[in-house]
Amino acid sequence: MSKKKLIVPSILLSNVLIFILLRFSSATEDEHKEFFIVYLGDQPVSNVSAVQAHINVLLSIKRSDLEAKESIVYSYTKIFNAFAAKLSKAEARNLSLLDEVLSVFPNRYHKLHTTKSWDFIGLPSTAKRNLKMERNIVVGLLDTGITPQSESFKDDGFGPPPRKWRGTCGHYANFSGCNNKLVGARFFKLDGTRDPSDILSPVDVDGHGTHTSSTLAGNLVPDASLFGLARGAARGAVPNARVAMYKVCWISSGCSDMDLLAAFEAAIHDGVDVLSISIGGVGGKYVSDALAIGAFHAMKNGIITVASGGNDGPSSSSVANHAPWLLTVAASGIDREFRSRVELGNGKIVSGVGVNTFEPKQKLYPILSGADAGYSGSDDGARFCADGSLDPSKGIGGKGTILESAQYLDAAQIFMAPATMINATVSDAVNNYIHSTKSPSAVIYRSQEVKVPAPFIASFSSRGPNPGSERILKPDVAAPGIDILASYTPLKSLTGLKGDTQYSKFSLMSGTSMACPHVAGVAAYIKSFHPNWTAAAIKSAILTTGKNKFLLQ
Ligand SMILES: *[C@@H]1O[C@H](CO)[C@@H](O)[C@H](O)[C@H]1NC(C)=O
Ligand SMILES: *[C@@H]1O[C@H](CO)[C@@H](O)[C@H](O)[C@H]1NC(C)=O
Ligand SMILES: *[C@@H]1O[C@H](CO)[C@@H](O)[C@H](O)[C@H]1NC(C)=O
Ligand SMILES: *[C@@H]1O[C@H](CO)[C@@H](O)[C@H](O)[C@H]1NC(C)=O
Ligand SMILES: *[C@@H]1O[C@H](CO)[C@@H](O)[C@H](O)[C@H]1NC(C)=O
Repeated sequence: MSKKKLIVPSILLSNVLIFILLRFSSATEDEHKEFFIVYLGDQPVSNVSAVQAHINVLLSIKRSDLEAKESIVYSYTKIFNAFAAKLSKAEARNLSLLDEVLSVFPNRYHKLHTTKSWDFIGLPSTAKRNLKMERNIVVGLLDTGITPQSESFKDDGFGPPPRKWRGTCGHYANFSGCNNKLVGARFFKLDGTRDPSDILSPVDVDGHGTHTSSTLAGNLVPDASLFGLARGAARGAVPNARVAMYKVCWISSGCSDMDLLAAFEAAIHDGVDVLSISIGGVGGKYVSDALAIGAFHAMKNGIITVASGGNDGPSSSSVANHAPWLLTVAASGIDREFRSRVELGNGKIVSGVGVNTFEPKQKLYPILSGADAGYSGSDDGARFCADGSLDPSKGIGGKGTILESAQYLDAAQIFMAPATMINATVSDAVNNYIHSTKSPSAVIYRSQEVKVPAPFIASFSSRGPNPGSERILKPDVAAPGIDILASYTPLKSLTGLKGDTQYSKFSLMSGTSMACPHVAGVAAYIKSFHPNWTAAAIKSAILTTGKNKFLLQ
């Protein structure tokens, strides 16, 4: 048993990638080069001279054409005018003083922030559809990639992509290619770093991108579940729409500004109708925020961008992706929770939150507190069951874990061994029992679905006020983002932890990352009835037509 403030790992860890910022070895400011994005403006420069124009800009700080050329990493010319280059801070500063330069900003790394949820929010499988138009909709996602062989993306019954579609898709490593459902798949990795855990292909080795895209536009897959939990038909909001994946998020490095901008440019050029981006914001001014810049150009091209508001709640002013032209999504709960009962040796039953797919093999197991299992004299690490902190003679070889969390327990974490997470009140009761008897025992039962009152805003969902402008309300709207079942990758175990042998075609995830594709799906649904509506009109329709069906019942 562990004590307050310890959540190992924290509730969202299994669902959100933790990324390590690249660190460079120290060097003087002049010599030390980093990636910068130089934003020159609004107008595309769709001719061969664009790259030369970018070299010319660089010539104000570089000694030769060759040196300028060598520092350019990427030229953005199709939708807007910008380039990425390797520069020293001093060079970047000097470039930013030029009249023709709108902004220069360092390439920063973002992090990534089922199927009952559609019925819950009132979009049942029987909803009226404009099939002819829905088939012409292409939804684009910037994410960790996709699983092409997933049933959610099979193309049975799909005709060729709409004629307007200009996207591409090839055969890459570990990627079988596209079909008439998955009509585009590309990847962007401009910083050149490579980690063995990453595959240079649109394939999803993380699970996040497969999950978000199937929530948005996955086919109807009957009898989906996570080892029997959350059983039901899985489907996206627009199961007849096409999907295009732009992989910009990497296990090793996160999702960089350079890659995000390149993906935006490709998606706008390819002809996506709706963009769904479940990626954290990096803050700062909009003119130096790749996601805000990309979404601005998407809007200029009639494409609505829906983005996750972040998982940094409940602290105030934590909302990310708050540019006025984004549709920023908060996460809410649906009327289902996953709980495990814990029976103590004295017959008392308590309960915890989490996804525990294991049936107990014994009636009761001996239980001890982690704090009592450390080497004598020090229990700090042992309370957290930290690696190496447990005295082998007391605490190694446990069959399961009861964790105490100080966080609000609304999202279920998936465990790789029998476990559940309890709150402080329950923890006190368990701890008292353990220390009140000579040979304490307990058993953790397999998780069950429990009906709970809903909707409610997820504790982790980032809150306003909007740090960009207190005059503009953000997030814009909430959608289901707790314990959502959707497709998953076969390339990662459910927890991603060493030793986990649980694999599933569907998994449960929580986060505003899961809420975002719900709203993008609604945007695509609206667009299938009103193909000519602007991004603002679609956003307005979503924000102004909500009904509280729970009050109406
Ligand atoms: C490229 O476009 C610029 C203005 O946008 C124009 O001045 C130039 O002549 C064009 N070059 C080519 C090769 O078309
Ligand atoms: C930046 O501009 C200043 C002032 O013109 C100049 O002295 C300096 O050498 C420039 N630095 C770089 C790296 O271009
Ligand atoms: C990717 O493909 C390579 C070559 O076929 C193979 O060796 C590797 O195991 C595959 N990786 C995954 C994660 O499937
Ligand atoms: C702790 O969990 C129990 C059981 O789920 C619940 O009855 C109780 O209200 C919770 N206490 C707090 C402080 O949340
Ligand atoms: C959408 O706009 C196009 C071109 O402006 C027009 O031909 C078409 O009829 C419009 N569609 C609808 C449903 O209004």
